[in-house]
Amino acid sequence: MISKAVIPAAGFGTRFLPITKTQPKEMLPIVDTPTIQYVVEEAVNSGVRDILIITALGKSAIENHFDRAFELEAHLHTQGREEQRLQVRNLASMANIHFIRQRELNGLGDAISYARWHVGDEAFLVLLGDTLVDSQVPCSRQLIDVYNRLKSPIIGVEEVPPQKVERYGIVGGEAVEPNTWRIEVMVEKPKAIEAPSNLAIGGRYILTPDIFDYIEKTARGVNNEVQLTDALQLMHKDRAVYAHKFEGVRHDIGNRLDYMRTSVKYAAKRKDIGTDFKAFLKEFVAELD
Ligand code: UTP
Repeated sequence: MISKAVIPAAGFGTRFLPITKTQPKEMLPIVDTPTIQYVVEEAVNSGVRDILIITALGKSAIENHFDRAFELEAHLHTQGREEQRLQVRNLASMANIHFIRQRELNGLGDAISYARWHVGDEAFLVLLGDTLVDSQVPCSRQLIDVYNRLKSPIIGVEEVPPQKVERYGIVGGEAVEPNTWRIEVMVEKPKAIEAPSNLAIGGRYILTPDIFDYIEKTARGVNNEVQLTDALQLMHKDRAVYAHKFEGVRHDIGNRLDYMRTSVKYAAKRKDIGTDFKAFLKEFVAELD
């Protein structure tokens, strides 16, 4: 059973400067909802309510977002805006959220190592705080279901166009069940011609506690940071690690173009503004040259 989730959200977000100088990129709004709220809701909707968020200096907006806001709630109550009051209140009660600060930003692998004492000897879910997956069944739920069958680490993957493999960690391996492979090779940002497949590591993982020992053994890699992919590379040589292609579309909001795409797609699906927004988009597109 997976009962704990870890959300790394400490990074500098340098691809999204200048806003990330003072605002966490995980708080960038998709219409009116911070990205990390969607990520927490994905964990909760997958049945995981014990969540550790890894933050850093300057990222207290994340902690505030999931805390009670008594004055605001009282204000909404006096105005008779009960639906909004409950919405605000629910943010503080939907999960048991803990925070820890990564003291030096030494990469994703290093960030995960801060979860060691929180997760103890249980397997746990990892969701990147800057990555959304738009899917029918929550992406994390899909991975948990595979973990429950295979009882080994599971890496969520998505297919990317062959010309884009050099932007991602790519895995290759032997198919064991539909959409699931036992990993044989894992390469960080390969050239298209050298890539073992077009299955890219996609921001969602189920890890087992032995990952912490592998992170400890992992030397600094790309950008002089301790990379989770490098630790997983060591791990899969010793034990079975699986990749599962989840149903859904992944959005990395830490990259400007994907952020804009995500905002537009989510706005078009909204019940309140969706119809008007789509009408605007059609007019706008018709005017483009
Ligand atoms: P990224 O590599 O996309 O985040 O990490 P970054 O370093 O903030 O991005 P750029 O390249 O400077 O724009 C994916 C997730 O891992 C977290 C990030 O906050 C993000 O949610 N992360 C990354 C950490 O928690 N700690 C780190 O040291 C690095």
